[in-house]
Amino acid sequence: MNFLEERIARDGIVKPGNVLKVDSFLNHQMDIALIEEIGREFHRRFVDKPITKVLTIEASGIGIACFVAKEFGVPMVFAKKSKSVNIEGEMFVAEVESFTHKNKNQVIVSKKFLNAEDHVLIIDDFLANGCALQGLISIVESAGATVEGLGIVIEKGFQIGGKVIRNLGYQLESLAIVDAMDPETGKITFRGQSPK
Ligand code: G4P
Repeated sequence: MNFLEERIARDGIVKPGNVLKVDSFLNHQMDIALIEEIGREFHRRFVDKPITKVLTIEASGIGIACFVAKEFGVPMVFAKKSKSVNIEGEMFVAEVESFTHKNKNQVIVSKKFLNAEDHVLIIDDFLANGCALQGLISIVESAGATVEGLGIVIEKGFQIGGKVIRNLGYQLESLAIVDAMDPETGKITFRGQSPK
């Protein structure tokens, strides 16, 4: 197990409905030493790419993306979720549907902060169905910029998102891939581990 899998196995809580709670260290209370290590690991995995910007989506991606951006010495930009409809013009806009929350959001990034010269690393905390990532990819494409790769802290390997993004041909690096979780026993099986 890597450092993150060990932490998930120790402090992650499996909830019914295939939900993994990691709010004691990742997306509510944040263990900054751990997030810093996550930042270093993404830097190691994408160090050969000419990254000029790190892009994420509010809210939980922001803290993680900050540490990644610091490693690369580049700005971090986060897409904002917006309910307003009349924002085209100065903004790149994508529609993101949440299967978990059963709602749709427009996500927006100002045209001031992404342009055709940018080489973008997309970062997020969870990958489930991949809608958030597809929205971010479409924003980068609208800017004429290049998606150099995508970094995810926890991928739920039994949901479709990872497959969809990899099939599009992108370098997708997930620090932990959860292939199965049992709410009865609390057992979490990571990819590459045989289930016990
Ligand atoms: P998708 O973006 O991959 O399509 O995911 P989906 O719509 O299924 O997920 C919606 C939200 O739920 C996302 O956060 C995602 O990070 C989060 N999520 C999905 N599965 C889990 C899980 O097992 N555990 C936890 N803790 N979160 C999960 P969001 O609401 O868009 O953003 P945020 O404001 O919380 O960052």
